[in-house]
Amino acid sequence: MGPLLWAKNLRLMNSTKEIFRVDSFSMMRGEAVALVGPNGAGKTSLLLALALLVPPTSGTIEFDGNVAAAGNILALRRRMAVVFQESTLLDMTVSSNLLTALRIRNVARGESLARMEKWLEVFGVAHLKGRQARSLSGGEAQRVSLARAFALEPDLLFLDEPFASLDYPTRNSLLDDLGQVIKKMGMTTLFVTHDYTEIPHLAERTAVMFEGRMIKSGSNREILGEDYLERRCRVPWED
Ligand SMILES: Nc1ncnc2c1ncn2[C@@H]1O[C@H](COP(=O)(O)OP(=O)(O)O)[C@@H](O)[C@H]1O
Ligand SMILES: [Mg+2]
Repeated sequence: MGPLLWAKNLRLMNSTKEIFRVDSFSMMRGEAVALVGPNGAGKTSLLLALALLVPPTSGTIEFDGNVAAAGNILALRRRMAVVFQESTLLDMTVSSNLLTALRIRNVARGESLARMEKWLEVFGVAHLKGRQARSLSGGEAQRVSLARAFALEPDLLFLDEPFASLDYPTRNSLLDDLGQVIKKMGMTTLFVTHDYTEIPHLAERTAVMFEGRMIKSGSNREILGEDYLERRCRVPWED
């Protein structure tokens, strides 16, 4: 079987400059990959292109053997889920947030209820079911966002700096919980961060982005160095 996601000669320009240029990037099924680099490197732009949310200027994206094109893009997008740094929860209760997302993807009501219960439980927020999303703390909102993403049972999960707005204790407990869920589910995950200390919790492989280019890619050990398990990592774009 080929890669689940395969981007070839992918390039995005805005009116004045090149935002990114990536010759080849692929992810195998079940792989958890970190995309790391400083602010402005083009990580979010690349993630949005790979998630089929922003059309690239040129290049192709193949998902599960299908080249993304106008005719199949909605169907392919429905097999992916994205969690962003800022909450994208709708102004309704926590349970309605999950049920609405599942309804949009045509999941039957009974199945939706079961998935909602399961995933709120897994992320430790089942007690918040009846709360309005806007009343949640940052950490609670990200747990609900992750529960919503997993409830969709995507083939590919994108995480764009999901912890960047959280304080350290909140971030650390969520990092551990999320890392365990990703591993247990074998969820194919692209995890974007500028904080390389987060990488060992969530990913086995790391791609480094700098000024719109992917400058390195390899195992965490190769990219972050032998010390990475102790999280005393050097900054990989300062070599
Ligand atoms: N909508 C946009 N219009 C113009 N420039 C943008 C837009 N979004 C991002 N950029 C530019 O693209 C570059 C990459 O940004 P981004 O993908 O957000 O990087 P990162 O997520 O790594 O911080 C930056 O120079 C940024 O200024
Ligand atoms: Mg970003």
